[in-house]
Amino acid sequence: MMSAYLMRSGLNPSRLGAGSTFSKCFSTTLRISAASSFFKNSQASVSLTRYTELRTITTGNIKSVVGQRAEPASNPEGKVSARIQKTNLLNDEWMLEVQWEDGFRSKYPYIWLRDNCQCPSCFHPTSCSRRVLIGDLDVSIVPVSFSASKDSGDLEIFWSDGHKGLYTSLWLRERSFSEDTRESRRQMRSPLRTLWGSDILSDLPMANFHEVLREDQALLEFIRKLEDLGLVIVRDAPIHQEAIFSLTNRLGYIKQTHYGVSFAVKNRVTPNNLAYTADSLDMHSDIPYYEYKPGIQLLHCISQAKCTGGSNNLVDSFSVAQQLRELDPEKFQILSAVPVDFIDYGVEEDGLNFYALSQHPIIRVDERGDIQSVTLNQMVRDSFFNVSVEKVRLWYEAMLTYSNMLCHPNNVISYKMKEGDIIVLDNRRVLHGREGFRMIEGTRELHGCYWDWDMVKSCRRVLQRKLGILKT
Ligand SMILES: [Fe+2]
Ligand SMILES: [Zn+2]
Repeated sequence: MMSAYLMRSGLNPSRLGAGSTFSKCFSTTLRISAASSFFKNSQASVSLTRYTELRTITTGNIKSVVGQRAEPASNPEGKVSARIQKTNLLNDEWMLEVQWEDGFRSKYPYIWLRDNCQCPSCFHPTSCSRRVLIGDLDVSIVPVSFSASKDSGDLEIFWSDGHKGLYTSLWLRERSFSEDTRESRRQMRSPLRTLWGSDILSDLPMANFHEVLREDQALLEFIRKLEDLGLVIVRDAPIHQEAIFSLTNRLGYIKQTHYGVSFAVKNRVTPNNLAYTADSLDMHSDIPYYEYKPGIQLLHCISQAKCTGGSNNLVDSFSVAQQLRELDPEKFQILSAVPVDFIDYGVEEDGLNFYALSQHPIIRVDERGDIQSVTLNQMVRDSFFNVSVEKVRLWYEAMLTYSNMLCHPNNVISYKMKEGDIIVLDNRRVLHGREGFRMIEGTRELHGCYWDWDMVKSCRRVLQRKLGILKT
């Protein structure tokens, strides 16, 4: 059975190889505890962080894993030195080996060291950019000599091209090529995700609109929940269209589409999108017909009419894809390999003609086998199908299996929005749908917009730096 760690991260165990132990690679993460600007704090220590608390929740046939966060070690023994004890030239391997005071060893290829010299002529200190031209590099470059300062621990290397290279010990330690360091850096790009099923309904991820606008810590928690679970319900927002703009301004900017800067979801007489009817909507991701579909969707409930139905259905498509991978790897493979066209054309209310067309596999995995995105929208899947005719029926079999699993009560939740709620969801991961509704009284009005993940993740890292959590 797949380990709980693997469940959480969506990793494909087969790529780890026989005998690999996950804990070997990921049980410990290095996080640097001091600023790394050149020639500052070069003796600072590095605190080891560990994944703590691993809990597996089983609900029906669903497993999700919570916990496992990398937290700074609180006891002083968790600190290790970034001071260099010994340095060796491994000319046979074209690498420099550093032995640290705590016994840890790191190897650095010569060409990488020369490319990443931190002296001001090689690395511009204010634009934080490399000035070395790739064409000027020599892969056969070797150190002629080197010296490590006893006091600072900083390293100088005299290169065979006549240049003197400068490196602080902390900068080097941060950039160790070890599995732990690389995994830590990967998580800075994209933290691990917690997969969920319908049991999340008893503890929905929430945030308070005013706190998020006012407090950095609340904003950071909101973003981390969104990255972790793909879903946050922001409550207590003002009941007017400005609310999602205020929230957006707190992080950055909107991702505009042909529906405009934002869009209102209410019934229209001649709808150009099924969202503007009272019909039920299948579970879907938005704007799949864009090559760069929006990463995040916001839906703000401005007015909730008295009506029957009208709840939003939400599902963690990554969790269900993981279940499919375990249940029927062949079907998972088909859905991750076959490209599917999505299309939408028409005229917007302001007269803008649009004709959007793109192609995505239903489940996109990266080179490690990790699930990156699910793109699914029955309404706007094109009838042109760019696949050999023999594969069509197999694709439908796989698609129907996945679709049935997505709708399983153990996976899907139903949430009826209240006025002032803003549902914020990861449009690559959390699919949404709607029960059809019949109006009794009043109007039902939602106001929505999109964000991109680049903007949100950048905001998270800026906050982590500001709050002293991220040092690099
Ligand atoms: Fe939608
Ligand atoms: Zn230099």
